[in-house]
Amino acid sequence: SLMGQINKLEYLFTVSGEKLKEITDHFISELDKGLSVEGGNIPMIPTWVMEYPDGYETGTFLALDMGGTNLRICEVTLPEEKGEFDIIQSKYRMPEELKTGTADELWAYIADCLQQFIEYHHEGEDLGKLPLGFTFSYPVTQHYIDHGILQRWTKGFDIDGVEGVDVVPPFEAALAERGVPIKLAALINDTTGTMIASHYTDDMMKIGCIFGTGCNAAYMENCGSIPKLAHMKLPPDSLMAINCEYGAFDNEHLVLPRTKYDLVVDEESPRPGQQSFEKMIAGLYLGEIFRLVILDLAENPDVRIFEGQDYNKLKKPYSLDASFLSAIEEDPFENLQDTHDLFTSKLDLRPSKPELELIRRLAELIGTRAARLSACGVAAICKKKDLQPCHVGADGSVFNKYPHFKARGAQALREILDWGPPPEPVFPPAAPGGGRLARRGSASSQTNAPPKEPDPVEVLPAEDGSGVGAALIAALTLKRIKMGN
Ligand code: BG6
Ligand code: GLC
Repeated sequence: SLMGQINKLEYLFTVSGEKLKEITDHFISELDKGLSVEGGNIPMIPTWVMEYPDGYETGTFLALDMGGTNLRICEVTLPEEKGEFDIIQSKYRMPEELKTGTADELWAYIADCLQQFIEYHHEGEDLGKLPLGFTFSYPVTQHYIDHGILQRWTKGFDIDGVEGVDVVPPFEAALAERGVPIKLAALINDTTGTMIASHYTDDMMKIGCIFGTGCNAAYMENCGSIPKLAHMKLPPDSLMAINCEYGAFDNEHLVLPRTKYDLVVDEESPRPGQQSFEKMIAGLYLGEIFRLVILDLAENPDVRIFEGQDYNKLKKPYSLDASFLSAIEEDPFENLQDTHDLFTSKLDLRPSKPELELIRRLAELIGTRAARLSACGVAAICKKKDLQPCHVGADGSVFNKYPHFKARGAQALREILDWGPPPEPVFPPAAPGGGRLARRGSASSQTNAPPKEPDPVEVLPAEDGSGVGAALIAALTLKRIKMGN
């Protein structure tokens, strides 16, 4: 029966508070391992960002953001006033073909966009060379702040000839070819930018997180606690921003509660075996997990949802994205009319009432699992570095747009870090009737009620990391060069 199916899915996708704690404990040891000489699954990359801004950085900087969905170019001016900034920006589409095209096409496209931006905003001006902070949000090994060797593509990118090489020379060559007057000052990760930009306006911000197409965090480590840098003899209490790249957590598959659907997502991705944590929680994968479950239920002879209907459109990988799940979770109608219409327009399917109930519950389960698991990474850094109380700056489409993501994540943090008696659960266990009763009027009223005291760790919307953060890091770098270190 469909009720039975819902129960099975609930069992499969629910992660208990106990399990979250177990994952977090393992996470802490994996963060440590990543800093060790031998290394581990989590890269824990020293970024050579070695201080927080003091708020008095000044100058005009370009910032380029190559995230995954968009290409964004900003010009950021940091005035004399403490903690202020002005920003102008243009967004460019990141054509889908580029993600699996050639390296030359990639760099040419980016250089063309930069050239356009400069021509548009600075026609005929003699600029000298504008310093650029380039947010390149993939794992890169950095020996210097203005270089980076791509370890491997993530987030579905698959461009030959970039992995294993320094991305800066071909990028600069493409600029030089076009005579674009830009000097790369710093290559940064979106999480590092997010941490620095957030700290600029709120010095309680100690961690920068992205919950978007991918999932990752950065924090400040003491150089003395980074065994793999010991040979450099840096002052032990000096700071080093670490780009964790913790989307790669548990690539050994020791603790994450992976379902058979997660295994398929992994196997069919361009990099099987990589980014195990990210593949269960990041925006790129949420819709795909959902599609795989629904397809399985349509094909399973014991269930056969959409009986007698043509479900061919469901067979196309990555045809449903996280915004599809968001829309289902946001459907305000008792009869789930929006969800029905979405299935009809997008997939030519007409789900029955009980099928709609299952679809809604499945979206809730996948969205809730993502938010709860993602809290483990944040909790692990907080515990490891003893950061409570602190603020965490977060950015990305899932954090900003996915319904209830913030509240579900906050609830999971409370469970992991043992803060007081747990408030009402964000999603009550399914009531008889498959979650419908549980949902009615409850989700929003409960999730929106702010806790009386602020939590010891609050995850808050960040300042623009790849704009302001990249500019600040470029400014810090130039200051450091001027001072001769
Ligand atoms: C943006 C940041 O807001 O969020 C980017 O400016 C970051 O630097 C991005 O990469 C992540 O979100 P998404 O959803 O685009 O992956
Ligand atoms: C992926 C990238 C990482 C980035 C994250 C969020 O995990 O590897 O560099 O920070 O996505 O965009």
